[in-house]
Amino acid sequence: MQEKKEHISTNRFPLLLVGIIAATLIFVGMVIHFFPSPDAAPSYSAKNIPISDTIDWIKPDLQKLTNSEADNQIRYGHDLVANTAQYLGPQGSVRHISNGMNCQNCHLDAGTKYLGNNYAAVASTYPKFRERSGTMESIYKRVNDCFQRSLNGIAIDTNSAEMQAIKAYILWLGKDIAKGKKIKGVGIADLPYLPRSADTINGRSIYEQKCQSCHMANGEGIRNPATHGHQYPPLWGEHSYNIGAGLYRVSRLAGYVKYNMPLGTTYDNPQLSDEQAWDVAAYINSRLRPSMNLSKDWPKLNGKPADHPFGPYADSFSVAEHKFGPFGPIAA
Ligand code: HEC
Ligand code: HEC
Repeated sequence: MQEKKEHISTNRFPLLLVGIIAATLIFVGMVIHFFPSPDAAPSYSAKNIPISDTIDWIKPDLQKLTNSEADNQIRYGHDLVANTAQYLGPQGSVRHISNGMNCQNCHLDAGTKYLGNNYAAVASTYPKFRERSGTMESIYKRVNDCFQRSLNGIAIDTNSAEMQAIKAYILWLGKDIAKGKKIKGVGIADLPYLPRSADTINGRSIYEQKCQSCHMANGEGIRNPATHGHQYPPLWGEHSYNIGAGLYRVSRLAGYVKYNMPLGTTYDNPQLSDEQAWDVAAYINSRLRPSMNLSKDWPKLNGKPADHPFGPYADSFSVAEHKFGPFGPIAA
């Protein structure tokens, strides 16, 4: 009996195997038919605004400012953005409230560069509701956000000459933009998400080849004692932006790097592929940097962006996935 049973089952085994293979092939065929291949899949972008829907921004000319009190205030605001450390850095002439970076290190050409994190839309969009704080934010609040996070410092008084000047400068930059208009090249680019997670190992090798000569192997850049700032600003370490800063989100850093770095890069002449920008951003944001209490950020969990690297989350994706991706499935 025992022998016979075994005999039958071994005889049927090849048939069963053929059946399973055939069923698998049919299933795979159906999947390929009904779902596009990875190449044909749409690319996700955080905002999905086609650039052609937007208007041009012509930046106002600093040279045309007069010597009126109002124009002098705008000029002072420009100077504070360009040379923040000189006034408000660790050895600043006005107050010592920030880490030695300049606003301009990240808001290139004093916040006027195409996709160089410019301020073109601030005048026409603030006060605005922001999910990070869950409140309507004034320009003061937004500027102080960057002081506390990007410059790892403390907020400055709303009535101070410095805050008033920075606000006047930013309002002047956007004075010709009507409310409700979208502007070409505003802020930072939204790169298409990669179908994989960003790779810190590949990122490190890109860093060594394309960034290290200026930002140094330890990521701390090179100081410039004459300006109390940096010749090359830090990308990580104790003098860099903290974990609450916008650039600590890998999509913001990748978008910034793609059209602005290595130094001299423009929108028309990028030097890195999107993949390289994502990977080098992941490497930079995997290094140590100052901390910050973020417990009050993102009061509504479903308002958190896909690449916010701290929980809790409204979905079940892990912290690692929220830090380095893949972001497509999270955003979807
Ligand atoms: C380490 C980089 C960094 C530095 C330094 C920095 N910022 Fe920012 N700033 C950012 C990022 C990133 C954003 C968000 C951009 C985005 O998400 O599109 C931002 C956003 C802003 C915005 C809002 C822009 C908008 O269109 O909503 C203002 C205003 C601003 N920063 C002002 C300043 C000022 C003033 C300083 C200097 C005191 C400063 N920032 C320094 C990185 C920086
Ligand atoms: C030739 C020198 C040089 C090279 C190479 C270079 N950078 Fe920079 N980088 C700068 C300078 C200078 C600034 C500040 C610009 C300013 O203040 O106008 C800067 C600013 C930055 C900032 C924003 C400020 C900060 O410190 O957080 C980031 C991020 C950055 N670079 C990343 C990179 C990455 C990534 C690479 C390589 C792909 C790179 N850079 C290559 C010179 C360089």
